[in-house]
Parts: sequence; C-alpha cells; structure tokens
Amino acid sequence: MPLIEVSNVVKEYRRNGIGQQGSTVRAVDGVSLNIAAGETLGLVGESGSGKSTLGRLILRLLEPDGGSVRFDGRDVLTASAKEMRRLRRDMQIVFQDPYGSLDPRFTVEQIIAEPMVIHRIGTRQERRATVRELISAVGMDESALGRFPHEFSGGQRQRIGIARALALRPRFVVADEPVSALDVSVGAQIVNLLAQLRRDYGLTYLFISHSMPVVRYLATRIAVMYRGKILEIGDTEELTTHPQNPYTRKLLAATPEIA
Ligand SMILES: Nc1ncnc2c1ncn2[C@@H]1O[C@H](COP(=O)(O)OP(=O)(O)OP(=O)(O)O)[C@@H](O)[C@H]1O
Ligand SMILES: [Mg+2]
Repeated sequence: MPLIEVSNVVKEYRRNGIGQQGSTVRAVDGVSLNIAAGETLGLVGESGSGKSTLGRLILRLLEPDGGSVRFDGRDVLTASAKEMRRLRRDMQIVFQDPYGSLDPRFTVEQIIAEPMVIHRIGTRQERRATVRELISAVGMDESALGRFPHEFSGGQRQRIGIARALALRPRFVVADEPVSALDVSVGAQIVNLLAQLRRDYGLTYLFISHSMPVVRYLATRIAVMYRGKILEIGDTEELTTHPQNPYTRKLLAATPEIA
C-alpha cells in the first residue's frame, strides 16, 4: 500500500481581479498520484502550475473542492479532529522562505521544541534532549540553541526549519521549494542534508521545485505539473532520459545537467 494516495483532487480559487469577480481558477485540476514509503517524489512545473496548492492539499492545510487523500490507508479529508492531531505529527512541511517561517521572538531551542510542546510530547528534559539531537542532525552546533533566527544565514535558518519539521518524528515531509531562496552552493548543501535525513530517519518526501537538476538529483520519481494537471509521472531515470510529454522535454532542455 502506498504511504500517500491522492485521487482526483480538485482545488479552485476565486479570482479577485477587476472584472474577474465570481470567476474561479482551477489551481489543481483532478490530480491522482501515489507516493510509496521511502520514496522521494519530485514535483516540477512552472510558477503558478499548482505545485504548492497540491502540497498543501495533501497535508490538509487547504480543503479541496473534490477528491480524496489517504495517508497510510486513512482518509485525511474525513479524519476527526483527534485523528487529524495524530496525522499532523506524521506529515510536516518545510517552507521556501527561511526568513519568514521562523518566529523572530523565539530562540532556536524554543522554535525546534514548539511542536513537541503543542502536541504535549515528552517531559521538558526529553524535549531538551530531542532538540539537541535534531540540531546536530541538521549539521549545527548546540551553541545555536540560545540564539535568535536573525543571527543566522538563510542556509542555517533553513536547517533550523528542517530540525523543527522533524521534531514530531514525521514519516512524510513536503518540502516546498526549500532551496529556491538560497545561493546555489548553499542550496546544494541543504539538498544533501535532506538526502542524509531521508536515510537517517526513513523519511518519505514530496519535493517541490521548479529546478529540474535539483529534482533529478534527489527524487526517485518525478511528476511534471502544468496548469493544475500532472502531465507525466515516472521514475527519475526513465522520465529524464525518455520524456514522453513535449512539456517535460522543454523543461529538461531549459536546464543544464548537474556537473
Ligand atoms: N490563495 C489564493 N487565492 C487565489 N488564487 C491563488 C491562491 N493561491 C494560489 N492561487 C493561484 O492558483 C494557481 C496555483 O498556485 P500555486 O501557488 O499552487 O502554484 P505553484 O506551482 O506553487 O507556483 P510557484 O512555483 O510560483 O510557487 C495560480 O494561478 C495562483 O495564482
Ligand atoms: Mg509554490
């Protein structure tokens, strides 16, 4: 059984532009896909194709207008509040913007511990130990824990965000353009870190990116999204060497190989 099963999911947004009142845009237009445990599904497509909307629908951070999402066989969209609390621990998100996603009033220790406090996990002592394990797992020093987000670079902030996302021991992580805001070399380090954490913690990823080389490096399978639909989905090797869809070919041609 796949860890994630998405069936015919639809999401429409109301347009708010002048002369557009009442009309809607189908940001996600009948998407179905599965993600097996341990797999990294790379989701690529141009800006506005619906990648973030799809990621948020899977996590139920947005309510769809149709379709279903299952996590480990359980229907996410009809889950009770109690079941949803449990599911929230299993499914986490890493955001693109390492500047906007960390609360500037909290120390790094408080930021990483907060999900455990909210979910009432462990004693204060156990949470301290988990925070120390996580900061080291993301390649940072314990001396970071007493400091505030503004004292860190974008790459370090992204590491802190990743440590926080792992605090509840999730099984599934949506990484929504986690390196797009970073310099190429810093981004490459974060991509390597995500690959390492996948091995260490047995994670399953939905990795969203508009960069084919990055997705190609990390993903075991790739889905190509265009105007709310999945045009093509397949194993990374097969899809990148024998793309079936012209749009996939265009994406591959537009981006250089990784050296
Ligand atoms: N809250 C919203 N209200 C109205 N329209 C929205 C909203 N969020 C997204 N959209 C629209 O839905 C479509 C898909 O947006 P989405 O952010 O999912 O795309 P994306 O592939 O993640 O793009 P990007 O690569 O720029 O992050 C776009 O047309 C966008 O303008
Ligand atoms: Mg997006």
